[in-house]
Amino acid sequence: MRLKGVLLGAGNIALRGHAPQWANTLRNQVEIVAIADLSKENRAAAQRIFPEARLFESAEEALDSETPDFVDICTPPFTHRDLIAKAASRGLHIVCEKPLAPSLDEALRIADSVRRARIVFQPCHQYNYAPPWRVVRDLAPRLGAIHFAEYTVRRTAANEGNAHWAPEWRTRRELSGGGILVDHGAHILYQLRSVMGEPKAVNATIRTLLHRNYGVEDTALLTLDHGGALAELSLSWAAKRREIAFRFVGERGELVGDEEKIRLFAETTEEVPLGGMSTNSSHSEWFAPMFSEFVGRVSKRDFDQAPLDEAVYVARVIEKAYASSRAGRALPIEHEPSTALAGGVH
Ligand SMILES: NC(=O)c1ccc[n+]([C@@H]2O[C@H](COP(=O)([O-])OP(=O)(O)OC[C@H]3O[C@@H](n4cnc5c(N)ncnc54)[C@H](O)[C@@H]3O)[C@@H](O)[C@H]2O)c1
Repeated sequence: MRLKGVLLGAGNIALRGHAPQWANTLRNQVEIVAIADLSKENRAAAQRIFPEARLFESAEEALDSETPDFVDICTPPFTHRDLIAKAASRGLHIVCEKPLAPSLDEALRIADSVRRARIVFQPCHQYNYAPPWRVVRDLAPRLGAIHFAEYTVRRTAANEGNAHWAPEWRTRRELSGGGILVDHGAHILYQLRSVMGEPKAVNATIRTLLHRNYGVEDTALLTLDHGGALAELSLSWAAKRREIAFRFVGERGELVGDEEKIRLFAETTEEVPLGGMSTNSSHSEWFAPMFSEFVGRVSKRDFDQAPLDEAVYVARVIEKAYASSRAGRALPIEHEPSTALAGGVH
């Protein structure tokens, strides 16, 4: 029997990223039975992909009218806590777009409500499943222990949100929680964690350099201090051309990547060509393996907390990075067990 899902939010990432995977790749495992979105145009666009689904303007109405197995939350960050609470209180499994929440406090409250509900929770950390990142993960062991990393993301501006709602939401702090650090940095932080573990401290300089009309930063420079290893992130919406570049240096070699290729310089030299990593920012196909794993976890009732912990970790580092930039110095990152932390926040 197919799992029944409700799509909450039918904007750009829902229509271009998630919907094609639910409607095509996972159509034998999942049926999207309802869609909720504030915009009539976006509800109509989603209906063209899911002709059988019922349409709702309000998420609550959709959840009261349907009996789904899961929700797929594709709304902006400031809505996540409320929508997750509504789904978790009904015992529904959850896929939720990143970032988990606009602040660490909200992320911890979300984690608490998810843990209490005993549901499967999957943040949309689809870069974990992206083919270029799988190449990095496969080659990284050949570097030995990594002691230095650099990750650079350059964009000319913040992506616009959907024209039928609030296209500028990414640049309004109360809706997004922050600028490029929250929007793109969220992905980089869990990627780095997967190869280097968790840093002890962060030193950040976060500014609005070019887009003075933004209510959030357009540039964030972070040094993640692991003690014996350092990682540097350079993120900017104030560039004049798009670029992604990274470098990992270990005791036995170096791994270098950009839009076009990943090169390993270790005992052997290897080059893996890529298809232009940031040419299409929706990368719909990157969601398929993550959705597929989510469906498998729901059918096994596998309540592994690791994906939730990963999202809370991201929120924790982001919050600390903003505090570091305000303080003008490095700040330690406390990595208390997230269950204990969540238990203390209500
Ligand atoms: N995983 C990724 O790589 C990736 C890429 C892009 C966006 N995102 C994330 O996806 C989320 C949505 O981003 P987007 O680019 O699709 O935004 P968008 O502006 O294109 O769409 C947002 C949609 O949410 C709807 N909406 C807002 N509040 C709602 C509510 N309370 N109930 C129902 N619908 C509501 C709006 O009507 C709009 O259609 C954000 O959290 C963003 O960070 C993730």
